[in-house]
This record gives sequence, structure tokens and C-alpha cells, in this order.
Amino acid sequence: MRKKILQIAVTAGIGLLSVACSRLDMQDQPKYKPQRPSDFFADGRSERPPVPGTVARGALDVDEAYYTAKGADGKDIDYFPIAVDRDLLLRGQQRFDIYCSPCHGRIGNGMGMIVRRGFKQPPSYHTDRLRNAPVGHFFDVMTNGYGAMLNYAAQVSVRDRWAIAAYIRALQYAENANVNDLPAEARNQIPPPGREITPDSVYEPLAPPDPDFNNFPNVPATPAGVPGVHGAGAAPSNQPERQ
Ligand code: HEC
Repeated sequence: MRKKILQIAVTAGIGLLSVACSRLDMQDQPKYKPQRPSDFFADGRSERPPVPGTVARGALDVDEAYYTAKGADGKDIDYFPIAVDRDLLLRGQQRFDIYCSPCHGRIGNGMGMIVRRGFKQPPSYHTDRLRNAPVGHFFDVMTNGYGAMLNYAAQVSVRDRWAIAAYIRALQYAENANVNDLPAEARNQIPPPGREITPDSVYEPLAPPDPDFNNFPNVPATPAGVPGVHGAGAAPSNQPERQ
């Protein structure tokens, strides 16, 4: 009998409780929303920073050479940490044309369109210094920036940075290639030269003359009177600058 009374009392108690706290469900979970403050921890944040040395899943970048282009001695490496093939070069060409050519020019001579409009002229890739620079230097410049050049770490993935570095090597080679570098059969296919190959023409592209570049960069390439142009290429104007 006593057992029965107890049973009824417990059942009634649970029933009452569930009526009183009708919102004790998922809607009222005790939880913090992201970035909410809390007075529970001394620093006032409800979120705990990760323990030092925490590595996110899939982000264990142990391959130093691949991710930083530095060797054990902390210097730029002079080899490619990934296989370089035609596909990688084509990818590098595409990425270079998108991200680098506006300043460095399609052939890397430092005369991109932005430079023609007055931006600081980068050095040509076809100088002895950059031709002899370890390939890790190009990766490093893209990753960390260099002087007036901002870095491209956010826009260009690690693998694409290597692809661009490989393509820059190809550009350098193309601008400095000698006809004797070609295999004999390929050499035989070259039409009789209409123009003698002199030391100068080995270094300079045989592009058609561009009147924009007469006396460049002493005379900026921006044609006089282009509206809205600022910087070195801006034509002196007596009109107030447009905002
Ligand atoms: C907005 C223009 C601009 C873009 C875009 C740009 N650069 Fe540069 N770059 C510069 C300038 C300017 C310098 C020279 C910086 C200096 O000496 O202060 C430079 C310098 C360099 C150098 C030479 C560093 C040295 O040792 O002298 C390399 C290599 C280079 N850039 C690679 C790249 C690559 C690769 C990309 C594309 C991912 C790129 N740049 C995109 C403007 C640019």
C-alpha cells in the first residue's frame, strides 16, 4: 500500500514538474553563442583559445620545404619540392598571367600595364641576379611580399605558388635560350633567320615596336590626357582632380 502511494506521488510530481517547466527542451539549452562574453573565466571570454601547439585536422604542414621554401639552414631552397611537368607549367602560366602580369608583364620584363600607368617598376626577371636566384626566392616573395610588392599568400595557394615559380623559370629560360639548346631536328625547322641573333636580341623579346614604350620609363607610357590617371603617368592638368 505504501509502495502504491509513493508511486502515485512520484508520478504526480513528475507531471507537475513538466507543466511548470514546459520550456525545458532544446529551445532553452544552457549554452553560449559564439563570441558571447562570460564571467565564468577570468579573461571574460566564453570561448577557450586552443592549447598552444594545437594543429587543426588536415593542417599539419610538416613539409618545411614545400610550405616555406626554406631548407634546414633557413635559406631559400634551390629545387622544386613537387614534380614539375607540363600541367604544372600550364597552371603556372595561367596563374602568373592573372596575378603577376599586371605589373611584371606577360614575359616578366617588369613592364605590366599597371607599371605603364605609373606604378613602381619591378625588376625584370631576366637580370643575372634573378636568373641565378634560388627558386625558393620566388616562392618566398609571393608568400611574404618584397619591398613595395604585397604578398600573394591569400590569393595564390601553396601549390600554385610553386606552379608560378616553375613558369617564371620557363620564362627566364625562354628569354635566355640559345638556338643551340634545341635538338637538331627542331633546329632544322627554324626558318632562315631574317634577323641576325646578336647578344642584344638574345636578351630582349622580339616584339613589334610599341610606340607607348619610346624612352620608357623616362617618359611614362600612359598617353597624355588619359582621364583619371594618377602617378607618374598622369598628364599635368589644370582641371581639379576627380574624386
Ligand atoms: C601590383 C604590382 C605587382 C604585382 C601584381 C606583382 N608584383 Fe612582384 N613586384 C612588384 C614590385 C613593385 C616589385 C619591386 C619591389 C621592390 O623592390 O620594392 C616586385 C618584385 C618582385 C620580385 C623580385 C624580388 C627581388 O628579389 O628583387 C619577384 C620575384 C616578384 N615580384 C614576383 C611576383 C610574382 C610571382 C607575382 C604574382 C604572384 C607578383 N610579383 C605580382 C610589383 C608587383
